Amino acid sequence: MTRPRHIELITLLEISKVLAATSPIGRRLYSAMRILGDYLDMHRGTVTLRDLTTGELRIAAAYGLTRQEIKRGKYRIGEGIVGKVVKSGSPTVIPLVKDEPLFLNKTKSRNDILKGDISFLCVPIKDKNEVLGVLSVDRLFEAKVTFEEDLRVMKMVAQLIAQTVRLENLISAERQEKESLRMELKAKYRLGNLIGSSKAMQEVFRTVLKVAKSRATVLLRGESGTGKELIAKAIYSHSERADKPFIKVNCAAIPENLLESEFFGHEKGAFTGAITTKKGKFEHADGGTIFLDEVAELAPQLQSKLLRVLQEREFERVGGNKTISVDVRLIAATNRDLESAMSSGNFREDLYYRLNVVPIFLPALRERLEDIPILIEYFLTHFNKENGRSVSLDVKTLETLTKYNWPGNVRELENSIERLVVLAEDNIICQSDLPMHMRNSQTTVSSGLKGSVETLEKERIVKTLEANGWIYARAARSLGLTERQLVYRVKKYGIAKK
Ligand SMILES: Nc1ncnc2c1ncn2[C@@H]1O[C@H](COP(=O)(O)OP(=O)(O)OP(=O)(O)O)[C@@H](O)[C@H]1O
Ligand SMILES: [Mg+2]
Repeated sequence: MTRPRHIELITLLEISKVLAATSPIGRRLYSAMRILGDYLDMHRGTVTLRDLTTGELRIAAAYGLTRQEIKRGKYRIGEGIVGKVVKSGSPTVIPLVKDEPLFLNKTKSRNDILKGDISFLCVPIKDKNEVLGVLSVDRLFEAKVTFEEDLRVMKMVAQLIAQTVRLENLISAERQEKESLRMELKAKYRLGNLIGSSKAMQEVFRTVLKVAKSRATVLLRGESGTGKELIAKAIYSHSERADKPFIKVNCAAIPENLLESEFFGHEKGAFTGAITTKKGKFEHADGGTIFLDEVAELAPQLQSKLLRVLQEREFERVGGNKTISVDVRLIAATNRDLESAMSSGNFREDLYYRLNVVPIFLPALRERLEDIPILIEYFLTHFNKENGRSVSLDVKTLETLTKYNWPGNVRELENSIERLVVLAEDNIICQSDLPMHMRNSQTTVSSGLKGSVETLEKERIVKTLEANGWIYARAARSLGLTERQLVYRVKKYGIAKK
């Protein structure tokens, strides 16, 4: 007797429906196995998949097996019947499990019924010629349906599973690749807490790393909010003085009459209020680094005293006559136009040349638009973490923020992202969540992050192809891609052999 045809069709239809769902693949396969059991009397349906990198076999879904049984069921290719089917790529039927020496019965689930008349059917799950795994079922020996019929249905089910698994493998490979590219991006576009993928910032990073090792005086120039202080800290932390003090003095924040004592300290009784002897910032910084922020704001009298420290590395405390020597590395910063301050007589020329040993210019954000998306991503991650949120921007909003002029540079960008994260009602921020003045800006810019990922990937592919003499199969292997994926990318990026 044969099984009515329409039952098979319904089974296949139901299985293809559950496989197309969006739940995790293990769940989908489990549902498919349940349908096989319920509709066709094929029990303990099991999908065993090959791990594509280790080659190890692992039960991905099993209906009617306990967790323990599933855990035990790890086969290696060549072992047992499942292994045999993986190796040969052809279906196998064990008419009577109890008579079969090859039956490893790793899952031990059949112990209780081994004396009964159980058959075991096993078909490969194949994508073209590659065996992705096997589909196996138990059924009662005396069932009214022939093995041929069962195998025919199982092959069709295996075909459906193969499509699902192939798609899943592609998706997870893609995901892994993206993740590794992101990591690479992060390392390349980052220096301490500084982010920047633009040519200009990459150049700044290179200079920082070069100059950090020396004791040379560095002068940081750039508009407000461009990262001068962060650069000063990066120089310090990459220097051999990283374990010595980093002392910051904001020349604009301290009243002029107190600044000298702040710099150089004072002796007891040097002036009213000087009740004890006090060390100044330069003494505290001895062996380390001093960062003079807003250096253009220094009064002329202090400019000349600073000049002496730079020339001689020595000074006296206020009200003292003992000369103190220090070993200090100086980093200065300003957002002022020092050259015009110099020509109008507000900044000493000799001090200017003493400070200007290694100048580093920090470009404004509007001069390096390609940094904006990556900065936004960085600040989003940061403020999401700080606020326990998982807010993201929709594409249009990202575009608007990239086009915006950012007069306050990175600081303004940082504050805006913090505000958006804190105030966001939904997890997706859209245009209408932006303040009015940001929504109305006009310039067009292409979105940068995707671009930079692609540039990086292209570079990597070209390099690997060159290293492998343009032999695709070898290059693909070394990139962890299939040859087809590589060819697709070569076309997409228009890569050609030089
Ligand atoms: N490249 C960057 N990557 C990440 N964060 C940055 C970057 N540049 C600046 N920031 C952030 O922007 C803010 C302003 O940076 P910083 O204080 O270093 O600027 P500044 O040039 O010293 O500005 P000002 O002249 O106003 O003192 C800081 O919160 C800093 O963390
Ligand atoms: Mg600053």
